[in-house]
Amino acid sequence: MVVAIDGPAGAGKSTVARELARKLGFRYLDTGAMYRAAALAAERAAGRTPAQAAREATIELTDDRVLLNGEDVTELLRRPETAEAASRIATDPELRAVLVEKQRQLLAQGDWVAEGRDVGTVVAPGADVKVFLVADALERARRRAFELGRDVDAVLREQELRDRRDAERPHSPLRAADGAVVIDTTALSIGEVVERIAALVERARLAR
Ligand code: DC
Repeated sequence: MVVAIDGPAGAGKSTVARELARKLGFRYLDTGAMYRAAALAAERAAGRTPAQAAREATIELTDDRVLLNGEDVTELLRRPETAEAASRIATDPELRAVLVEKQRQLLAQGDWVAEGRDVGTVVAPGADVKVFLVADALERARRRAFELGRDVDAVLREQELRDRRDAERPHSPLRAADGAVVIDTTALSIGEVVERIAALVERARLAR
């Protein structure tokens, strides 16, 4: 079974997806971490296109660590400049094709909660449950600022830029998939969001 959770930065995807996966005993796939790792790989592979760099790189994801060619880069990937670089290379259709292929290979076996921007629309359009998380821009920026120990205004400015780029790119723009359940997390706790999605998973299981 595949549960696809998409939405803009700061809508609560990572925390919710991780918690839901733990609750259900599913594996967790953070596709954004793959774009970040690819951005780092591209930065390090001078003279290579992002797609070449990503194709040649080994990106391994565990529940909470990311390994790039065997090196633990988890902390490096959290930097705002890596998020910005990831959002920029994510507009490249060739790079997207490389990562989507890697993601589909993973999702082909077992039960997964996968989160990102295009999981329900492109990576796994046949997902059993599709959710699109949204929240007020200021609330999202507040959450990210708290998480990263940064200034809310700066996070809000970067977030606006990234949101716009993610939503307006011609290839796989951020949008709710057909059949996705839209959940506004602005006034909900993580536990409440997890419960709502778990109920959708239960319903999908019974309908199988
Ligand atoms: O979720 P995140 O902030 O770690 O994602 C980093 C960037 O990667 C984000 O700005 C857009 C891009 N991304 C994407 O284009 N498609 C995905 N499925 C996941 C992330």
